[in-house]
Amino acid sequence: MSATSFPEGFVWGVSTSAFQIEGGTSAGGRGPSIWDVFSADRAEACDHYHRYPEDVRLMKDLGMAAYRFSVSWARVFPDGSGKANQAGLDFYDRLLDEVLGAGITPYATLYHWDLPQSLEDAGGWPSRDTARHFADYAAAVGERLGDRVGTWFTLNEPWVSAFLGYGSGIHAPGRKSAADAFTAAHHLMLAHGLAAQALGDAKVGVVLNISPVMTPGQVADPSRPLSEEDADAVARIDALANRQFLDPMLRGAYPADLLPVIERAAGLDHIRDGDLEVIARPIDLLGVNYYTPLVVQAQPSEPADPAFPGSEGVLFCTVPTAVTAMGWPIVPGCLSRVLQHLATEYPGTDLMVTENGADFVDVVTGEGIHDVERISFIEEHLRALRSAIEAGAPVRGYFVWTLLDNLEWADGYRRKFGLVHVDFATQRRRLKDSALWYRDVVRRNGLTD
Ligand code: NOJ
Repeated sequence: MSATSFPEGFVWGVSTSAFQIEGGTSAGGRGPSIWDVFSADRAEACDHYHRYPEDVRLMKDLGMAAYRFSVSWARVFPDGSGKANQAGLDFYDRLLDEVLGAGITPYATLYHWDLPQSLEDAGGWPSRDTARHFADYAAAVGERLGDRVGTWFTLNEPWVSAFLGYGSGIHAPGRKSAADAFTAAHHLMLAHGLAAQALGDAKVGVVLNISPVMTPGQVADPSRPLSEEDADAVARIDALANRQFLDPMLRGAYPADLLPVIERAAGLDHIRDGDLEVIARPIDLLGVNYYTPLVVQAQPSEPADPAFPGSEGVLFCTVPTAVTAMGWPIVPGCLSRVLQHLATEYPGTDLMVTENGADFVDVVTGEGIHDVERISFIEEHLRALRSAIEAGAPVRGYFVWTLLDNLEWADGYRRKFGLVHVDFATQRRRLKDSALWYRDVVRRNGLTD
């Protein structure tokens, strides 16, 4: 492998999720999800439900080897459980045939945040039953689509589902309770383990948003030593954001420093005997979504952030680095650090960067969309990823978030993460320069010097 090329067989792709692109919210018998109810925006999104052949053609023209998409639970089980809706499964059947026909390998995520509303009405993720229903859903989807999906991801970013959905309430279903957030997190992990069981011999992974946690000083100089107070702030947030999920799933135990925090907020009764064995069922692949680090420092008077219950005395900081339009600091070196850290601390599991990308304000003219910032964002992160591989991290692929400009959750349509611009009035798709640039990266399996 030369200085800028990637290993043979490295998987290049793009990621999307059902709610963010599909639209067709009541087509084919789909039921409402928590995001249909919560979102202030109309959810027609990119009308991918009807336009998927065009979108698959775009991916084919861009030379994508792989496509990571998600299945909408509410299409398959409009009420969350009971009898599977064949018309919903038929959609994914058609989509998969199209994807495979274009020579693209599908990677399917089972849960990208769109819980059927009826399951939320019955208690949502803080209810243990939701995990059981998820396993039934996984079994039904596996049975119908498993002949064509080689790799499944059970959950996408369970931290976000639990702590933004049930803790801070800025995501659907908008509940605000620390107890519910921790309980939801546990049941999401249980759902992952039960679904992995239900999928049998298939290749199974999970996608986590791993956020390196550091102080402002460490953003500038990662080797900067920390005061005891700052080291404690970093460790507490790392436990809440990262180790809460990594340790149960990959080591079969909650981090010892997190258990008292969970106990104070939620008690421990929801963690039952045998759960951790289910949760720690070995996986084939760990998907890593990386966008930006969490920057914190000790600040004794600081109240807990509702998204991080137990974070009293920790201040979330802004730093004077370049940021994306979301305001997220751009720190590519963290991607390399995260991947190497995972390879050392949780050895034996293949890694894949299942999301990385950026929201920038695109200037759309008749001559095209010259999104140079997005190109350099992706390029710098790919250089970091490559250095992690060089250092021995088993990273098997990289997926750009995302193919199309789409519905960015609580932020609506104003966020632009796509390689392809979408005019939501006409649904016209136009390639941005970044799409053509990424096509060339994929073609040469690497960057240029
Ligand atoms: C991660 C999520 O998986 C995805 O749905 C979201 O659009 C991106 N982050 C950008 O915020």
